[in-house]
Amino acid sequence: MEIVSITKAKNVGHVKILPEGREIPINSESCLLALFMKYKIEISHVCGGFASCGTCRVHVKSDLNDLPPREGLELEMAEDRGFVDFERLSCQLTPYPGLEIMIPQNKKGSNK
Ligand code: FES
Repeated sequence: MEIVSITKAKNVGHVKILPEGREIPINSESCLLALFMKYKIEISHVCGGFASCGTCRVHVKSDLNDLPPREGLELEMAEDRGFVDFERLSCQLTPYPGLEIMIPQNKKGSNK
C-alpha cells in the first residue's frame, strides 16, 4: 500500500493591496508577481518575470525599512531608470507579512 502525504502550504501572513485593502495570503510564493498570478490580480508583466521590462512595478506603501535591498537585475534597472525607493519590481520582490503595495493604474493588465 502506498501512503500519500498531503501537506497544505503554510500560510505565513498576508500582503495587503491598496487602496482596496484586499489581503492576500502568502504561502510559498517566491515573488510577489507569482502571488498576483495565483490570485488573479491584474498587473502587467511583459517580460514574464525576467526583470527586463519594468511593467510589473508596484509602489510599496508599508515601512520601506522592512524591504529587502534590491539586487542583480532589479538593482540595475532601478539605477538605469531612476526608480524611487518605494518602486519595486513585483517579479523580484519576495512577499512578506505586513507588505502593503499599490499597483499603479497604468500597470494593470494581464500581460501588457
Ligand atoms: S515582469 Fe518584467 S520586470 Fe517584472
